[in-house]
Amino acid sequence: MLRQLATRQVRLTSKGGVSFARNIRHISNIVSQKDASEDSQTGKFINTLNKPYSVTTYARPNLVLTHGKGSLLYDLENRQYVDFTSGIAVTCLGHANKELAEIIHDQSTKLLHCSNLYYNLPAGELANKLVSKTKESGGMKDAQRVFLCNSGTEANEAALKFARKYGKSINENKIEIITFNNSFHGRSMGALSVTPNPKYQAPFAPLIPGVQVADTADIESVKSLIHKDKTCAVIIEPIQGEGGINVVSEKFLTELRKLCDDNEVLLIFDEIQCGLGRTGKLWAHSNLEQAVHPDILTMAKALGNGFPIGATMITEKVENSLAVGDHGTTYGGNALGARIGSFVVDKITDETFSEGVNEKSAIFVSLLSKIVEKYPDHVESVKGKGLLLGLQFKDNLTNSAVVDKCRENGLLAITAALNVLRIVPALNIPNDLIREGVEILDFSIKQVIEESK
Ligand SMILES: Cc1ncc(COP(=O)(O)O)c(C=O)c1O
Repeated sequence: MLRQLATRQVRLTSKGGVSFARNIRHISNIVSQKDASEDSQTGKFINTLNKPYSVTTYARPNLVLTHGKGSLLYDLENRQYVDFTSGIAVTCLGHANKELAEIIHDQSTKLLHCSNLYYNLPAGELANKLVSKTKESGGMKDAQRVFLCNSGTEANEAALKFARKYGKSINENKIEIITFNNSFHGRSMGALSVTPNPKYQAPFAPLIPGVQVADTADIESVKSLIHKDKTCAVIIEPIQGEGGINVVSEKFLTELRKLCDDNEVLLIFDEIQCGLGRTGKLWAHSNLEQAVHPDILTMAKALGNGFPIGATMITEKVENSLAVGDHGTTYGGNALGARIGSFVVDKITDETFSEGVNEKSAIFVSLLSKIVEKYPDHVESVKGKGLLLGLQFKDNLTNSAVVDKCRENGLLAITAALNVLRIVPALNIPNDLIREGVEILDFSIKQVIEESK
């Protein structure tokens, strides 16, 4: 019965047209609403159908999203939200993108999947496009080959395996990997091993051996760990996402590249969150001198706009140490995912689109800076680059309390480590929704501060 109710409600809200009506809100007409109660349709659906049958992973509020349009989302209670999350930097072209829906439909009538036993057209096109567009954008100068997979963690898993194989091709003991404090590279055993967060790692120890942890603010910490005979790779996010929206300095990356070169060590850039147009260029490293470019680049998230896809891009030097059968995947490079990825890459590398990202970033930074000025005792600074932004709170304002309050007021935002509120909207978020969302954020911060007095 409840299952029928839930299904009917979804159908009503997604087809009834009512909830697509755009309600522009200003501070004067923001209506705060607590999360749906346990007695609501939402509460009943979660507690009866979902939670008892789902493996415990996330702590989630009583919120069931049913559909979206662009940068707006709607829930089972017909509430509307401005979306500053884009599914954690994923739906870069917004929800329910019409052109993408047509492409998905078209490809689904031709070929979804045929495994990697054979070639398919979209996978070849995507690999080729990623390499050529990367070079056009000023990124990874020696990019040559692409391994397609299904997620960020798999892209990093491949990167780590390729690096180990490369290291072992030089000397059997060249297997160590250097990673950094506050980094996040995924949850599979390999990716988790280079994600030095005790909360994520401790329950699953022992992890893979040979991982060393350095600090992005201290190049000496790398110097003390890197060894020509032992280290095969260094993995780093040019802008740390989960870890608190920390932009790694150009100087540090330049010195790091030099250390890698001096020690025959591969440099892996994880651009899973910061890449694919989020900083106004195809890659966060596209602005760096060629001499600083990586040997391996990993990507995922925005590449599929919500369809699970990831990729690992390597140079010919790395390719040379790999052989048939070393690595593989059933779904990676499936025709549907690759066709979607190709469409996304075309869109985000369009010059007008990238200019839009820079313009939207400037609007965000200017409005967020006003929040910093308005609440100097509680808000420290604006962090990040492009549309990977954060508000650094002081100790007397908790990021999760503000995220909860924002949700009650109709805005979805995310936390990041170090007490940061993370903002990663669709790259084409309309300017009026940026203003509306930041107004809700401002209002929510004020409410949380007042309630804590
Ligand atoms: C920088 C970075 N690397 C890797 C991952 C893992 O990606 P996925 O969740 O697709 O496995 C994430 C996810 O948040 C990420 O932000």
